[in-house]
Amino acid sequence: MIPKEKIEEVKERSSIVGVISEYMPLTKRGINHVGLCPFHSEKTPSFTVNEAKKIFYCFGCNTTGNAITFVMKKEGLPFPEALRSIARKYGIPVPEERSAAADSREPLYQALKLAVEYFSREIKAPEGRPGKEYLVKRGFDGEIASRFHIGYAPESWDGLALFLRKRGVAMEAAEKAGLVIRKKDSSGYYDRFRGRLIFPITDSRGRVTGFGGRALDDSALPKYLNSPESPVFKKGETLYGFYQARQSISRENSAIVVEGYFDLLALHRYGFTNSVATMGTALTPEQIRTIKGHTSSVYALFDSDQAGKNAAIRSLGLFLDEEVTCRAILLSEGKDPDEFLASLGPGAMREAIARAQPLMEFFLKELKLKFDLTTPEGKRRYLDGAMQYLSKVRNVAEKGHYAGVAASALGLPPEVVFSELKMPVGERRAGAGERPSRAREAGANLAEFTILKVILKFPALLDEKVEEAIEAFKDPDLKRIGVAAAGTLKGGKALDAGALIEGLGDERLSGVAAGIIFKEDDGFIEAPERMLEDSLKRVLNKGKLKESTREMIQMLEDMGISDVASDIKKRTAKTSSEK
Ligand code: UTP
Ligand code: MN
Repeated sequence: MIPKEKIEEVKERSSIVGVISEYMPLTKRGINHVGLCPFHSEKTPSFTVNEAKKIFYCFGCNTTGNAITFVMKKEGLPFPEALRSIARKYGIPVPEERSAAADSREPLYQALKLAVEYFSREIKAPEGRPGKEYLVKRGFDGEIASRFHIGYAPESWDGLALFLRKRGVAMEAAEKAGLVIRKKDSSGYYDRFRGRLIFPITDSRGRVTGFGGRALDDSALPKYLNSPESPVFKKGETLYGFYQARQSISRENSAIVVEGYFDLLALHRYGFTNSVATMGTALTPEQIRTIKGHTSSVYALFDSDQAGKNAAIRSLGLFLDEEVTCRAILLSEGKDPDEFLASLGPGAMREAIARAQPLMEFFLKELKLKFDLTTPEGKRRYLDGAMQYLSKVRNVAEKGHYAGVAASALGLPPEVVFSELKMPVGERRAGAGERPSRAREAGANLAEFTILKVILKFPALLDEKVEEAIEAFKDPDLKRIGVAAAGTLKGGKALDAGALIEGLGDERLSGVAAGIIFKEDDGFIEAPERMLEDSLKRVLNKGKLKESTREMIQMLEDMGISDVASDIKKRTAKTSSEK
């Protein structure tokens, strides 16, 4: 167990804005910092961080918590590991636990970091000549190589294994990180990467999580050998080069996505430093979200062959779902970005980027080629295909535009396609799951809600009458929050939002509480005493009214007038549920 005081110290000394900023860009807005929520899909920032209260809250999905819970959620770490990761950042020593809960991934990161050191050393050593020569042959000078820490794994069976062992790395950790492989007869370990140029792959925070290794000989198989999936390396969630590109992506407000390692290096070399690579796999929602924190405009460079076109179209749905604009660039016949730059230069690339067409437009053009639009059958299939993506476009102006494009292909007036879009299409679920908080609030008892808002902002106004009112709350959520808040505010203490949220110990309830706390930040409460007074009256009188109604019903029943009694019962039930 980590001592309580340690936990408090880490909470106290860390900056929640500092911690979260390592994962996503935050912008200052008033007393808060805001950004695009990493926990749900959105286009305008509702994710709000308050440094003074040391909590974050998303107005879109109600997720809330402190710096530690943020790291837990974002990295899928248990509490002690998340706490340690923050403590390390602030140089706060936390006693190691020899028990099970120590950060199981830390030795892997350590091994990977040391491996970079080894591969970099080797490319400079005499044994690394083939690697260095290959890199130069492919056109890369020292600057790009060092920016991306390109290294070389020599033709040795145990160079890295020995190096790691000497540095005190446990072989089990090196194996888990995918650096070494256990021999069949279990007599030891051998290096995974041999005789390959090495590309270290980092996560968005710059920690090395894996490697890609290119064979120097084009006939060798596989051409690229990658680290296996591991507790720290998830290929589908990683974008090669993102760490180096992220500031440039923000600055340029666009990102260029390519497939290959060398494509990425070439783009950076020619000044397109906002480029990232998918490492050969189809783009995933996680990868788009990583980019989305910095820009909502993506240029995707696809091969111009059929496979490239198909890949482009497959990714359209993802981009629409994430509300990221994607423009497709199809490079001329048989050239990947690396070859394109080498033969035609950066000017041609800039032109290609300027000419890039929105992926949706490209899709509609391809779709038109696929069907014979002179036949009803062809028209129907074209419309079906178009609707599938048109229905996902959220912005009404864009939706109208593309509905117009589809309509003109079909020789129909645009209104026809547009009105078709308003019909309930099976897969259409625009706005589904968004802003659940609104609905909650509207349904919640306004007076109860107001009381909580006032006392959370003006804790000094908490008195016995308020506590009595809280006891009489009808909304069970608001009641639990009220009771917890009253507990932490007793004795004129200032509100500790973090403690309140944590104390509730229920994610949904914490979200409701954080909603109330953050809400009072943007709305100014005029005359809090008056508001409190009015709300208290309503809550307490309602209770009394109920009480007297119950007595009356009892009386009527005692008198044998039970039909009138049940009529009153029905009516009061109805009015109170309408509240
Ligand atoms: P390509 O086959 O298009 O290679 O694979 P490339 O990037 O042009 O490589 P060079 O220029 O010949 O060196 C595209 C990407 O797919 C992944 C790599 O990330 C590669 O850069 N890939 C490819 C693999 O992971 N393994 C492979 O065997 C091949
Ligand atoms: Mn290539």
